[in-house]
Amino acid sequence: GRIAILISGRGSNMVAFLEACEQGRLAADICLVASNRPDAAGLARAAAAGVPTACVDHRDYPEREAFDAALVRCVQQQEPDLVILAGFMRILTPVFITPFSGRLLNIHPSLLPKYPGLHTHQRAIDAGDSEAGATVHFVTPELDGGPPVLQARLPMLPGDTADSLAARIIAIEHVIYPLAARWFLQGRLILNKQGAFLDGQKI
Ligand code: GRF
Repeated sequence: GRIAILISGRGSNMVAFLEACEQGRLAADICLVASNRPDAAGLARAAAAGVPTACVDHRDYPEREAFDAALVRCVQQQEPDLVILAGFMRILTPVFITPFSGRLLNIHPSLLPKYPGLHTHQRAIDAGDSEAGATVHFVTPELDGGPPVLQARLPMLPGDTADSLAARIIAIEHVIYPLAARWFLQGRLILNKQGAFLDGQKI
């Protein structure tokens, strides 16, 4: 299967995909790493690994829809089976989401439906939660609101800060995200009008 990965920053999840492929945990060809920011550190890391890279700079597009249309063209050129959002920090409109519906995944650093949006770790700490985690979900036009696919949970530790929590959560993101992609490429994970299904069971 062919995977396109969209990033905006350091791209540690993207690197986790490259490593999963290298180590045989994911039978996939990373056909594209694209960023909306030319200075994303992850772009250089992908290029160094020999992966095709592209940048669609959102500042070149006055409107979100025009940016999304350009991004669709960029991604479609590589004919991916699966599109992965990995720290992609632009809100996408249906112009992008619809053409990739059912083969577009995101990872979010909270136990969704808790804490969509930003500053998830601090919000979990402020709420006094006993657990935190990360969620892989199908992307729908509702921000961080598409059907969950896979969730990893961790206990909150005494003295946890947003940074200490983020460090533990990112490590499990790197495990669960390539695993969800593997399920998808194996045909085990499906999104339809009824929701997300794994091995024929609603999840
Ligand atoms: C991760 O915490 C992910 O959950 C969130 O953005 C961060 C991306 O980190 N969506 P990286 O760029 O993959 O290192």
